Parts: sequence; structure tokens; C-alpha cells
Amino acid sequence: MAARGVGLLTRLPLHSQRRSRVQRSISRHLCCPGTVAANVGSEEQPLGGAETGSEDKIPKKRFSEVQEERREQAQRTVLIRCPNNVNEKKFLKYLSQHGPINNHFFYESFGLHAVVEFCQKDSVDSLQNGTHTPKQRTDPVIPFKSRFLNLKLKNSSNQIPQQSYAQTNKQLPPSSKKLFELLNYAENIDDQLNTLLKAFQLTEENVRLRHLTCSLIEDIAAAYFPGCVIWPFGSSVNTFGKLGCDLDMFLDLDEIGKLDVHKNAGDFLMEFQMKTVPSERIATQKILSVIGECIDNFGPSCVGVQKILNARCPLLRFSHQASGFQCDLTVNNSIALKSSELLYIYGSLDSRVRALVFSVRCWARAHSLTSSIPGTWITNFSLTVMVIFFLQRRSPPILPTLDSLKSLADAEDRCILNGHNCTFVRDLYKIKPSGNTETLELLLKEFFEYFGNFAFNKNSINIRQGKEQNKPDSSPLYIQNPFETSLNISKNVSQSQLQKFVDLARDSAWILEQEDKSQPSLSSKQPWGLATLLLPPGAVSTPLSKKKKKPMNEKVKGLLASIKSSTTDSSKGTHGKRAISTQV
Ligand code: GTP
Ligand code: MG
Repeated sequence: MAARGVGLLTRLPLHSQRRSRVQRSISRHLCCPGTVAANVGSEEQPLGGAETGSEDKIPKKRFSEVQEERREQAQRTVLIRCPNNVNEKKFLKYLSQHGPINNHFFYESFGLHAVVEFCQKDSVDSLQNGTHTPKQRTDPVIPFKSRFLNLKLKNSSNQIPQQSYAQTNKQLPPSSKKLFELLNYAENIDDQLNTLLKAFQLTEENVRLRHLTCSLIEDIAAAYFPGCVIWPFGSSVNTFGKLGCDLDMFLDLDEIGKLDVHKNAGDFLMEFQMKTVPSERIATQKILSVIGECIDNFGPSCVGVQKILNARCPLLRFSHQASGFQCDLTVNNSIALKSSELLYIYGSLDSRVRALVFSVRCWARAHSLTSSIPGTWITNFSLTVMVIFFLQRRSPPILPTLDSLKSLADAEDRCILNGHNCTFVRDLYKIKPSGNTETLELLLKEFFEYFGNFAFNKNSINIRQGKEQNKPDSSPLYIQNPFETSLNISKNVSQSQLQKFVDLARDSAWILEQEDKSQPSLSSKQPWGLATLLLPPGAVSTPLSKKKKKPMNEKVKGLLASIKSSTTDSSKGTHGKRAISTQV
């Protein structure tokens, strides 16, 4: 496997290296004593090693520890809309009147914003106490106080010339052009997969912004439900998030009861008066409805609120403009949080897992196999489970089955949710690393071969047992829900979408089979390796993209067999490249 870290870090543009130096010096100046200055910037150690794809040496924390720490960090943080010409030093000095700042960064989303994390929560209160409610506006405003603030310049000495504007941090993945450049410069296909991971994974800053957004929404929900918690789940926290992915969050009302102090002394027990409702579902709909109104009417920067209350899992969908996130809010969706924890564990166990999942997800997106709009196509969640299943099937396995993670669990790990057994070991150090040393290049090719030839018509995918099983119904694609085991997570997928996936998987296996094993000269502009797989449909000529005369399965098998047998054919490695259009 290629050495990690060869990709982006060594090629950081000069200005971002300079930014890191400036930021470090400012933070050192302002940092609170006794606090580890976890300064933002990819080279610093994040709170959760696995979360932002940091290297294997970083201790791997439990999912719940990472979430608690991130939540606490977000509570000490404010979001500030700033004028473009703000003087960074003066701005930080001004804020540090309220207490020491642990770190900060700037980014653009409908204007310049700063995320500022204080060392202590008291500083946020102090800042809010010194903040004015705007008056004399042309449009009337609702005087709602939050941790999303607006910075105004009182005099011109706080302004600076354009060339000295604060450096902003990017919150989106690289353009296709940039990505193809990065991939072309990689040393080999393994390096390409790791490069893609580094380019697309959530940055430390983006993770902070996601937790801060949840925290800001939590403040709104807490107006109705004091003590509630809003947790992020899904790809924001499961280690498989791509820059630009949505922000899934759920309102946890179970946390409220945990704060109650039960005074059992005496003959009485006091309870809160509650209103009863006919069902849990109606309770969920009512809660979401009222919070939806609140977010819509008072939530700064929350726009386009949609109440999708009749869905199987009722939700609120809205955009948080200041962070740029598309948000989905659900209630008491604790099984989904448990799924996120399970994926976090799988993503943290072996450095190849995330690299493979990211490449497969990007490949699926490039070929419109996935979409941000719900429909009959495969989802990223299903694709991730398919990669996990494939890695469980290797010899020796790269990932353990869910049943074996359950067998390693102790009493503290026991977890039953809505009657479903969601128990698995949560301490990553109790799981033995795999002895499998296969390269990413081989794994990617074999992933495509495996699913290009999978008997989807009769078998289901089951990560609990790590085995193919007979399908219990006629859904084209059956992937057993890991916890609610009678459900299929890919029930929505149509036969034609599955066929498209299979055809593309076979095409991609064929392309990789022909690839040179080494990188072409650096001067070559020809996409190669992984880049070839990400090209738009039609850009690569494969036998399979031409008119199909034979059934797909036989044809690919025949091609692969003929390629394997002609080992002395030196032209085979370049054949695929010659057929590629260089247009990206
Ligand atoms: P992105 O496409 O990057 O947003 O991936 P994601 O994993 O966040 O997927 P998505 O936003 O669609 O769903 C969020 C989370 O909900 C997933 O990570 C799963 O934990 C859960 N989830 C999504 N779809 C299903 C499903 O069909 N069944 C079950 N049980 N859980 C699901
Ligand atoms: Mg999501």
C-alpha cells in the first residue's frame, strides 16, 4: 500500500502554509493557559482522530467521547458575520476582552464569517451580554438572541487594505479540474485513492462548523424543551462525510430525563404533568411542527424550512445559509445514531476502509448512480454498507462482522433500542487489527468484480453475519438493515438502477484490469487509474460501453480471462489510456 500523506499535505499552496503560521502565532498569543491549543488546520491533531481522517498514530477515541467533546467545544463557540475588510488582529483583541480564545477561523458563505471558540463558556455569555439588539431598521425584526452575531465597524481604523483581508478556509471539495490534476500527479493507484480521500474528507474546520450549527439549532429547540440535545449523525460524524454533504441531526429528548435528580427520600415522588398523545409518531410530528415554526420564524440564517411530517421518518429540512449546510432534523432517531457509531468503528479500524468508500462514492456520483434527490437510486449509506460487506468477505477479512463486534461487547456496551439489539463493542482497542495486506488498487478492482458478478437476483447483503443470504423478498437489491434486521436499507432501488450499477462496476473492473501499474510521465495530461473511472460517461471507450451483443456477464468474464492469459502483451497496459478523451 502506498505511503499515506503523499497527496495534499506536501503540496499545500504557499499561502495556506503562511496562513497556518500566522494563525499559530495569533493563537499562541491569545490561547488560554492550560488548554491544549488544538489550533485549526489540517496538520494539527483534531479531537476525534478518526473523524477527519487523521493518521493511524492518533489515539482512536470512542464515538461517544468524540461527540461529547465536540458538543462541549461547540457550546463555547460563536459564529460571527464580519465585514470583508475586518482587521483580524483587532477583531481577536476585541473579542478577547470576554476571555481567552482557543481558536478561530474565517470562511465564506453569503459573506465572510468567523467561527470563534473561547476557552470558557462564560466568555460567550459575557459577549452576548455586551451585544446590542439592532434598532432603527427599515424592516421590523424579532429580537431573538442567539450565538450567531453580526460585527459592525465603528471606525475606519478597523479596516484594512484588500490584500490583507483575513484568509478564508474552504468548505467545499476541489473542482473536477483540480481533482484530476491531483490524481494525475499521484504515484500509483493506491496514492490516488488516498489523495481523493484527503481532498474530499471533512476538514477539522468543517467538522467544527457542523457541530456548531447543531448547537445553534439546539438553543432554539431548548426554548421549548430545556435540556434537549441535538446530535449530528450520518456522514457528518461516521468518518465517511464528503465536503458539501448534508447535515443530518436529531433532537434527543431522552437526554432531558437524564438530568433529573430523583429525590427518593420521604413518601412522595414528584412528576411533571404531561400531555398525552395517541402515538409516538403523532408526538414526533407535533414536536417537529412546532420547532419548524420556531426555526422558520426566529432562526437566524435558517431558510426554506420544509416540514416533511408524513415520511416514514418525519423530518424538517432547511438550509442554514451562514454555514452553507442543507439540514435534516429528526426526533429520537437513536438507531440512526447507533448506525453512525457502527460506521465510525468500521471507518476507524483500517485506513483502507475510508479510502475505498470515498472512491466508490465519488465513482457512483460521477456516473449519476447516486443523487442528492431521493429516488429509485442507490444511496451513499447503502454503498458504504456494500463496501463494508466486501471487506468482510476478503481472505483474511479486513473488517469483522457485526456479530463478532457484538461478541466482543461487555455489559456496558449493551444497547437495546426500540426492542432491537444494537449491542457491539465500542472500544476500538478491543478489536484485533486485520492481517490482510492487500493494496487499495487490488481492493478497488475486486470490489467492482465482486459486485459486477454478485447474484443480486437471489442473494442479500448482510454485514451482521458477513455472508450472502437468500433474499427474503423480491426487491432488486436487498441490504439487510444491521439493527432493524427485518428491513432492507435499499428497498427504494429499482431494477434499472441496479443494472446500471452492475454494468458500470463491470466496466470499471475492466478498465482497472488494463491500467498500467505505474504513473505515466508527470508531463502527461492523460487521466489514468482512478481518474479514468471518474470521467463522465462516454469519455472512456470500453467494449462494454459499445453496443452489447452478448449478455454482460459472459462478455466481461471472457474479456477478463483473455487479458489475464495474455501476460506477455506489453501493449495491454496502455490500451485503456489511448481510448480516453482528455476532456474533463
Ligand atoms: P450522505 O449521502 O453523505 O448524506 O450520507 P449519509 O450516510 O449521511 O446518508 P443520509 O443523509 O441519506 O442518511 C443519514 C443516516 O441515516 C445514514 O448514515 C444512516 O445512519 C441513516 N439511514 C439512511 N438511510 C437509511 C435507511 O434506508 N435505513 C436506515 N435504517 N438508516 C438509514
Ligand atoms: Mg447525510
